[in-house]
Amino acid sequence: MANVVSSALERDVAVITIDNPPVNALGHAVRQGLVGAIATAKADAVVKAIVIACAGRTFCAGADITEFGKPAKAPSLADVINAIEGVGKPVVAAVHGTTLGGGLELALACHFRVAAPGTRLGLPEVKLGILPGAGGTQRLPRVIGSEKALAAIVSGEPMPVEQALTDGLVDRSAEGDLAVAAIAFAREAAASGKPLRLVRDRDDRLAATRGDRSAFDKAAAALLARKQGQQAPAACVKAVANAFTLPFDEGLAAERALFRALLDGDQSRALRHIFFAEREANKIPGLGPAVQARDVVTAAVIGAGTMGGGIAMCFANVGIPVTLVDTAAEPLARGMATIEKNYRNTAARGGITSAEADRRLKLITGKVGNENVAKADIIIEAVFEEMDLKRRIFAELDAHAKPGAVLATNTSTLDVDEIGRATKRPGDVLGMHFFSPANVMRLLEVVRGKATAPDALATAMAVGRRIAKVPVVSGVCYGFIGNRMLHKRSVESERLILEGAAPEAVDAAVVAFGFPMGPFAMGDLAGLDVGWRIRKSRGATAAVADALCEAGRFGQKTGKGYYLYDAGLRTPKPDPEVAKLIEATSARLGIKRRAIGDQEIIERMLYPMINEAARILDEGIALRPGDIDVVWVYGYGWPAWRGGPMHYADHIGLPNIAERLGHYAKQTGDATLAPAALLSRLAAEAKGFASHNPKGAA
Ligand code: CAA
Repeated sequence: MANVVSSALERDVAVITIDNPPVNALGHAVRQGLVGAIATAKADAVVKAIVIACAGRTFCAGADITEFGKPAKAPSLADVINAIEGVGKPVVAAVHGTTLGGGLELALACHFRVAAPGTRLGLPEVKLGILPGAGGTQRLPRVIGSEKALAAIVSGEPMPVEQALTDGLVDRSAEGDLAVAAIAFAREAAASGKPLRLVRDRDDRLAATRGDRSAFDKAAAALLARKQGQQAPAACVKAVANAFTLPFDEGLAAERALFRALLDGDQSRALRHIFFAEREANKIPGLGPAVQARDVVTAAVIGAGTMGGGIAMCFANVGIPVTLVDTAAEPLARGMATIEKNYRNTAARGGITSAEADRRLKLITGKVGNENVAKADIIIEAVFEEMDLKRRIFAELDAHAKPGAVLATNTSTLDVDEIGRATKRPGDVLGMHFFSPANVMRLLEVVRGKATAPDALATAMAVGRRIAKVPVVSGVCYGFIGNRMLHKRSVESERLILEGAAPEAVDAAVVAFGFPMGPFAMGDLAGLDVGWRIRKSRGATAAVADALCEAGRFGQKTGKGYYLYDAGLRTPKPDPEVAKLIEATSARLGIKRRAIGDQEIIERMLYPMINEAARILDEGIALRPGDIDVVWVYGYGWPAWRGGPMHYADHIGLPNIAERLGHYAKQTGDATLAPAALLSRLAAEAKGFASHNPKGAA
């Protein structure tokens, strides 16, 4: 076993160093090493104080998540913490990087915390569907107060070191060498002769809430209102409240019981699946370490519309200079003005400082004419969704782009191979499908064409991560992974309202499942004319949606769509006129209307998408089921605590899903709803999608 914990004596201070790359997770070997090193330091009379530090890029980023679900191996993190608390000499945590979860709990067991600049400290367990299980819910409130601890634990968001200093979580900020500063601090503490006080014995920050808990309860209600359907946030509230209602040890025992129950539950399993799936999505079979991403220093975006502007902002946000080009001065000026307005709004809301807004704006240079992309290492075309136009631009890029530049198209439907063939360098061409608003939405589908060179693909993935996106590889097909599945939901939602469900009933069922909004509210938000135009170009129809568009009801932008909107408001209100229009359409098409329950709505909203996902997987368009889950969680608001469509399907059971799909295929007369080959096969073998690991995928 690698030596993950080492000790060194700095005169009278023992420095215990954890070295367990990549993130110093507190796995079994680390815990064992810590218990041993602490016992040695405790017994050594020369040692007057102890520093616990980490090598590498960060202090411990938490418990080792890969150990969850396996039998626990002693010593536990609680044993390590008990050992620290029983040492009887000053113990200082020297923290840097991302001090998270069990890492912060370890630091909270120490008497003092010294932090390097840039450290972020937090308890993100709620994001994995659990709560801090090693005393975090009891110790953090004792240090920073119940309400601040509640906000930190329920949101899971880490706090910057500056705030941690103000709130008393960090005792000293280390300028210069962290170890030197922590050793000096430890020595001072030992020399001062002041009695040592453990966090567990503190009560000063709890007394106010114990006297009057109304502010705490109000804050808890506001936090939970945004976490409907999720178990972990409610458990976090309960645990933090225990900090000021129960004695420490009872609070600790209750925290442990809540932690165990959550860890064994479906929601945590789903969230841990998404955590690992997101990281797995970066690993592309066949792209070993020999394939190096190309250097990207500057970028260019073609098309200063909503999408192009949003994409340019993604680059500026992370400090990459970007040229935004358009064909004429007027659209370019409009695009630049929108970007400026967006940054000013963010600054006004306090999201960034106005100096930061200025800095980002300076990184975006607007230019007229495609010749201005010449210096860019990556060029992203984001013009209107028209094949001829895109092919013309890519043909022009041959003359303008420097050799080796990655040429990306932000298409959501068009054939990336055909676009690539318009150039003399199809190996440099791929799709980068951003989601609207591009500067906000995390998902990025990276579309690999038949001719795309491995290092061009690696570059797009690396750039995606640099601009804070979650990139997922997709093969070429109509709609790629996400929209191809979404199309199935659109067809079914139109059918449901023709068969008798009200749009608001469909939306309510989908929201109750955990999506932020239902298909009809989403259609109104995106604009119904977009789909209408696409349908017309493909000779397709959707009776209700087409009728709404013909009546000028394009959604929120026209004040009415499936719903009515009061001037300036975004709250959808059911519209009796739409109900009449739908009933008339049902009658015209000879569709008998009936009452439709929530269970049927949910099955018909989700199962046809899962069926399409099975085809996407079988065709190799998606590399693995987890990639599809990541697409839906980050691009379409699938509740992460349900793990994405593939994980959810495995949870429901594929035989059940296959049976329901067969039923709906008969009921609707739509043969495409019959279970796809892969789904049928896995169902017959009593397997799940998780077992389907296509050849070559990691
Ligand atoms: N356990 C095991 N592996 C972990 C891990 C953890 N806590 N945190 C990260 N990793 C792994 C990742 O899976 C990844 O592995 P691969 O390279 O094989 O894909 C590797 O470490 C690097 O991680 P990232 O790619 O995420 O690196 P990053 O620099 O982008 O982010 C990070 C670093 C901010 C620490 C991020 O990894 C993260 O948020 N980790 C999870 C933190 C967390 O949730 N901690 C709480 C754990 S639960 C707990 O502590 C319970 C308790 O109360 C005892």
